[in-house]
Amino acid sequence: MRMSPLLHYLLVFISVLSLSRVTEAQTAPVIFYPFGSVAGDAVSIAIEDENSTLINLWSPFVFFGHTYNRTYVNNNGHLTFNQSSSEFVSNYFPINGSEDIIAPLWTDIDVSMNGIISYQQYSNGSILTRATQDINQHFPDLSFTANWVLVATWDRVAYYYHSGTETSFQVVLISGGDLSFILMNYGDIAVAHNMVQAGYDTINSTAYFKVPGSNNGSLIQNLKNSTNVNAPGRWAFRVDGGPDQNIKENIIGVQMKVTSFSDLRESGNVGTFLEKVQQELTKYGLPSSLKLSLRRVQKTHP
Ligand SMILES: *[C@@H]1O[C@H](CO)[C@@H](O)[C@H](O)[C@H]1NC(C)=O
Ligand SMILES: *[C@@H]1O[C@H](CO)[C@@H](O)[C@H](O)[C@H]1NC(C)=O
Ligand SMILES: *[C@@H]1O[C@H](CO)[C@@H](O)[C@H](O)[C@H]1NC(C)=O
Ligand SMILES: *[C@@H]1O[C@H](CO)[C@@H](O)[C@H](O)[C@H]1NC(C)=O
Ligand SMILES: *[C@@H]1O[C@H](CO)[C@@H](O)[C@H](O)[C@H]1NC(C)=O
Ligand SMILES: *[C@@H]1O[C@H](CO)[C@@H](O)[C@H](O)[C@H]1NC(C)=O
Ligand SMILES: *[C@@H]1O[C@H](CO)[C@@H](O)[C@H](O)[C@H]1NC(C)=O
Ligand SMILES: *[C@@H]1O[C@H](CO)[C@@H](O)[C@H](O)[C@H]1NC(C)=O
Repeated sequence: MRMSPLLHYLLVFISVLSLSRVTEAQTAPVIFYPFGSVAGDAVSIAIEDENSTLINLWSPFVFFGHTYNRTYVNNNGHLTFNQSSSEFVSNYFPINGSEDIIAPLWTDIDVSMNGIISYQQYSNGSILTRATQDINQHFPDLSFTANWVLVATWDRVAYYYHSGTETSFQVVLISGGDLSFILMNYGDIAVAHNMVQAGYDTINSTAYFKVPGSNNGSLIQNLKNSTNVNAPGRWAFRVDGGPDQNIKENIIGVQMKVTSFSDLRESGNVGTFLEKVQQELTKYGLPSSLKLSLRRVQKTHP
């Protein structure tokens, strides 16, 4: 029996439709680790400590010299260790406070409108393989092997008072041996009207990092295509606090052209100049706490 052409078209149309529905439901940037119910994640719900979920870690996580056995996934886009935080007004880093914080995107988020926050930890299987590969690619020369991973994902969450806005990002904590790392992965990020800040900060801000452009709500859409590891949408950091990290292992040369003349024998000019250089260096993943100084100023002929 031959199908009528009309029925044939109809069938094709329906199958295309259902295909696009499936892909829509699973669309996530390739840099994202598996998440959500498909991956078997637990969902973070506001049972304890005001919109935060306590996770007892299967393996201790070392963050700049502090060893933590637990972490709180806080609604408002950040992880803390000592206690939960319902702080929806982000502070700009460096806070110089009394707590360590990892903030993939700290701002006022409200999942009662839309979106899901979910998490999962792993101590075996393909996620560890992927983490091992990613870290060795982003940080060559360490011969790293992951033995524990925690993935926390904010999937299409809304900003407070802006029901329907959809913002997706993920933080991945990875450890193995004495080393620990974090990945921050960004998908579609909506313009924010509240305070925002992405990066990490430590007790007394002895180490901190501000993801460039992340403290300006009208610019944070660009997080999706910014990176310090040549993978658009991803920022990767080594965070155990081991010796000379991010500095000795990351010796970089930069060539900069200064387009106006300023006399670097004047201290005011030096400050402005070094600030500009530092901003440029942090784009390459060096911590913002980096201290720069001029060794010698030499007058040259143009
Ligand atoms: C959770 O967050 C919402 C707004 O973000 C707030 O109105 C609500 O009170 C919070 N829930 C708890 C238990 O604190
Ligand atoms: C974390 O757990 C380990 C082993 O259970 C324990 O030895 C260590 O003291 C704990 N650390 C903290 C900071 O609680
Ligand atoms: C948070 O935990 C760290 C590491 O255990 C500790 O050094 C610090 O004093 C704690 N901060 C507060 C405010 O409890
Ligand atoms: C991997 O770890 C999970 C959780 O601890 C466990 O249920 C599972 O059996 C483990 N799988 C393998 C292959 O070891
Ligand atoms: C942080 O700074 C305060 C005041 O300067 C100091 O008392 C405290 O010991 C410092 N904490 C750490 C963990 O360095
Ligand atoms: C933190 O505050 C202390 C004193 O309050 C100061 O000495 C230190 O330089 C500050 N650190 C940063 C990173 O701002
Ligand atoms: C954010 O960026 C926009 C566009 O570049 C700029 O006009 C605005 O002044 C910035 N806001 C802040 C608070 O830096
Ligand atoms: C991505 O980068 C380009 C070039 O820097 C920029 O023009 C664009 O607005 C960025 N943002 C997005 C969301 O594509």
